[in-house]
Amino acid sequence: MSASVTVRVPAKVNVQLAVGAARPDGFHDLANVFLAVGLYDEVTVTPSPDGLRVTCDGPDADQVPLDRTNLAARAAESLAARYGRTPDVHLHIAKDIPVAGGMAGGSADGAGALLACDALWGTRASREELLDICAELGSDVPFSLVGGAALGTGRGERLRTLDVGGAFHWVFAMAGRGLSTPAVFREFDRLAEGTDIPEPVASQPLLDALAKGDPDALAAAVSNDLQPAALSLFPELTDTLAAGRGAGALTALVSGSGPTTAFLARDPESAEKVAETLRSSGTCRAVRTASGPVPGATVLPA
Ligand code: C5P
Repeated sequence: MSASVTVRVPAKVNVQLAVGAARPDGFHDLANVFLAVGLYDEVTVTPSPDGLRVTCDGPDADQVPLDRTNLAARAAESLAARYGRTPDVHLHIAKDIPVAGGMAGGSADGAGALLACDALWGTRASREELLDICAELGSDVPFSLVGGAALGTGRGERLRTLDVGGAFHWVFAMAGRGLSTPAVFREFDRLAEGTDIPEPVASQPLLDALAKGDPDALAAAVSNDLQPAALSLFPELTDTLAAGRGAGALTALVSGSGPTTAFLARDPESAEKVAETLRSSGTCRAVRTASGPVPGATVLPA
């Protein structure tokens, strides 16, 4: 058994996020079309004689909780409990996915820690068991394990893998502060008060656009029901969206619950152009380009 295991896990963008009414358990039924994109966190797990601890480095590291509320810590504890062992590991997160950004950064660390502990401890949990633990950890965590493209139903945790016919090129603008996912869903509920909220369903034109690998058709079909709520809590994002559209992006939308904004480009060259314009627009903190789909959580060679 090697002394440490590192797992690389991608961020996600939601190309469709259809949100239903609040359920009795407080969650919302979703039709959530996830696309994994090439921005990554790496989780390294090493045996630790002093018990479970979490460290983190990267530009947003100071915003990452290092206690037991971190999804990586909870993943290690959950797997250890199932296999009757103590979670005596040091989890180090090399963080490149924005924190509280709507790109599943916390979920990525949960899925990464789970896969890394499974490999380090030799527990050899089945894929199904790992997916069960992921679903307990959070609605987006199963997708971080699986990657590629998938339709999430239920609260987003029940996944159906989707075919994708080519790479899609994205630009992501990171905002100066984060948004809390529960707060955005609460704002969704407030804005929807007194209206009839339809059942969330996946858009067939969107699934067809993904299957064809057609960026123009995908741009015409993307949607995010959480966007009005995110913009209501963070109105300055409207300027970021306008700056990216003005720079030639095929479409612009808030990623998940935000506040990261996502811009679809026709090819890598136009993605670079959009990124350059956004960088000098003064409407965001940082800008990155990334393509997807990419695979989910992957153990890196030792
Ligand atoms: O599942 P997760 O812990 O990531 O969800 C965070 C919060 O987001 C939930 O507590 C809930 O407020 C909201 N949420 C929701 N409906 C979903 C997923 C998340 O209301 N389908």
